[in-house]
Amino acid sequence: MTAAAWALDALLDDPATRTLICCGSGGVGKTTTAAALAVRAAERGRRVVVLTVDPSRRLAQALGLVDGGTAEPRPVAGVSTGAGGSLHAAVLDARATLDALVDDALPPERAAQLKRNPVYGSVAGSFSGTQEYMAMERLGQLREAALSGEAPWELVVVDTPPSRSALDFIDAPARLGRFLDGRLVTLLRRPSTPRAGLAAVPAAVAGRVTSSITGGVAAVMDKVLGGALLRDVQALVQGLDVVFGGFQQRALTTSAALAAPGSAFVVVTAAEADALAEARFLLERLARDRLPTAALVVNRATVLAPGAAHLGAEEAGRLAAVLEAAGHDRAAALLRLHAELALTAAAEAAAVQGLLGDHDAAAVATAAARPVDVHDVVALREVAADLARS
Ligand SMILES: Nc1ncnc2c1ncn2[C@@H]1O[C@H](COP(=O)(O)OP(=O)(O)O)[C@@H](O)[C@H]1O
Ligand SMILES: [Mg+2]
Repeated sequence: MTAAAWALDALLDDPATRTLICCGSGGVGKTTTAAALAVRAAERGRRVVVLTVDPSRRLAQALGLVDGGTAEPRPVAGVSTGAGGSLHAAVLDARATLDALVDDALPPERAAQLKRNPVYGSVAGSFSGTQEYMAMERLGQLREAALSGEAPWELVVVDTPPSRSALDFIDAPARLGRFLDGRLVTLLRRPSTPRAGLAAVPAAVAGRVTSSITGGVAAVMDKVLGGALLRDVQALVQGLDVVFGGFQQRALTTSAALAAPGSAFVVVTAAEADALAEARFLLERLARDRLPTAALVVNRATVLAPGAAHLGAEEAGRLAAVLEAAGHDRAAALLRLHAELALTAAAEAAAVQGLLGDHDAAAVATAAARPVDVHDVVALREVAADLARS
C-alpha cells in the first residue's frame, strides 16, 4: 500500500493549525524544511514566526538573522505579503534564554551571582539537553505570545536542535525532571560547605551502604573538582534548582499542548538507511505518545524531470546502447545518466516504502535534492512547492 500524499496547503491554510514542529536526525534538512514551510504559510496568508536552530550562515543571512539580537523574532524580507500574511524569524539562543529564565526566577542579586558563577557558562553552553530545554521554552513563549494576540504571528513553526537522537526534544521535560530528582543533584542541592554538606547527606539519606557510597562520592568530587569548584557547582545547582523547577512546569505544559489539536509534527528524513531508521523510530514514538504526525518529509530525494519520469532505467539503458552503436555518444551518455538516476529514484522509493511498512498512515512528501544548498527565500519557496506537490 502506498502512502498518502501530503495535503500540505490544507494544513497551512487551516487557521486551527497553530504549531508545526520539524524533527528528525542531524543534517537531513530540518532547518530548511521549517523555513520552507514558514515561507509558504506566510505567502498563503498566515502570520508566521519560525524559530530556527543552527541555520547555515547563508540561510541566516537570507532570513535577516546575522548580527546580534537575533533571538527576538525579526521580520523577514523578500516574502510576498499579498495574501495578508507575514513572516518573522528568530534563532534559538540557548544561553540568552537560560539567562532570561534565571532573571525571572531569582531576585536580581542572586541572579547576577548565579550568572557570574564560573561553572554556569559551561553548563549553559554544553549541558546535555540545554538546547532542547531552551527550544521547548522558546516554543512555549512564542505560542503564548501568539495566543495573547500581542505578537504579530499566530502560527509558530519550530526547528529542533541537532541532537544525538531526534527524540531528545520530546523527552526534554521528563529528562529534566529525572535530572532534578537525581542522586547527584540531591546531594549538591544541600546548602552549607561542600565537605560538611556532602558528609551530612548519609544520615539524612539513610542506610550504611548509601552512607559509604555518598561519602566516597564526596571525597572523589572534592578531589576531582577541588573545594572551590565544588562550592561553585553546588551554588549553581541550588540556583538552577529554582530556575528549572518553574521551567520544567512550563515545559510540561508546552509539551502537553503539542499533543492537542492545532499542533503537528513533521518528521524530516533523507532517503538513506540510517536517517530512515531514525525516522521510523521517531514515527513510532510519536504514534505511541499520541502526538499528531502531519507527514514524513523525504528531503534531498532523487527526482526525475517530469518529462522524463516515465522512462524506466532498463529502457533507457537499451536506448543508450542503440544510440551508442549509431555514434550518438552525447545522447547515449545522457540516457545512461537518466538510467542511473531512475535506478536511484526507484531504490529510494523502495527504501521509504520499506521504512513505512505499517506506518503508511503517515502522509509522505518529497523535496528534490537541489544542485546547491538552500540559502535564500526563492529556494525555500521551491522546496515548499515540492512538498505541496507530492
Ligand atoms: N533539498 C535540498 N537540496 C539541496 N540542499 C539541501 C536541501 N535540503 C537541505 N539542504 C542543505 O543541506 C544542509 C543541511 O540542511 P539543514 O536544513 O541545515 O539540516 P538540519 O537542520 O536537519 O541539520 C544545508 O546546507 C542545506 O542548505
Ligand atoms: Mg538545523
